[in-house]
Amino acid sequence: MKIVVLVSGGGTNLQAIIDGINNKTIRNTEIVEVVSNNANAYALTRAKDNGIPGKCISPKEFADRDDFNKALVEEMDRVSPDLIVLAGFLVNIPAEMVAKYEGKIINIHPSLIPSFCGKGFYGLKVHEGALKRGVKITGATVHFVDEGTDTGPIILQKAVEVKPDDTPETLQRRVMEEAEWVILPKAIDMIATKGNI
Ligand code: GAR
Repeated sequence: MKIVVLVSGGGTNLQAIIDGINNKTIRNTEIVEVVSNNANAYALTRAKDNGIPGKCISPKEFADRDDFNKALVEEMDRVSPDLIVLAGFLVNIPAEMVAKYEGKIINIHPSLIPSFCGKGFYGLKVHEGALKRGVKITGATVHFVDEGTDTGPIILQKAVEVKPDDTPETLQRRVMEEAEWVILPKAIDMIATKGNI
């Protein structure tokens, strides 16, 4: 199965996928390209270090959002992946891309959907929201992407304990280590080996 991984930042989830392929916990999968909307994303360095083609497609390079969206869809069409993995990609996926790649785009979100998801909940903001509400359990979710924000069918979830002295940063790290880096590789392997979930 050919996958494209879309990223915006540090790329620790990308690294978990690379590691999973290398140690064969993800089977039958090849990362054919990493695409970032941010030229400075460390994820692009991780791609380069692992011999994976990397590309930046930034909204800043285009006259308007429509042109950016068009370029993103064109890149997917060019590479023609079996699966598109949003691994910390903090850009709204164009409706045209969702329609074209229905059932072929998955996303990792750092909470137990439907809590702390949707518009405005991304990255550290998710963990700030969880701490503010005082939940004792949070976690991560892998889901298919539909036309909404974090509304698509759920594939896997994993719970993580919130500790009394957590900061958004310590909670983010625990959710990554205990949940995200486990369930994202697992979901990809499930799709690569069974064709679906
Ligand atoms: C991850 O925690 C991911 O779940 C989150 O951004 C972080 C990216 O980290 N994604 C979202 O919030 C999507 N709504 P990474 O670049 O180290 O993988």
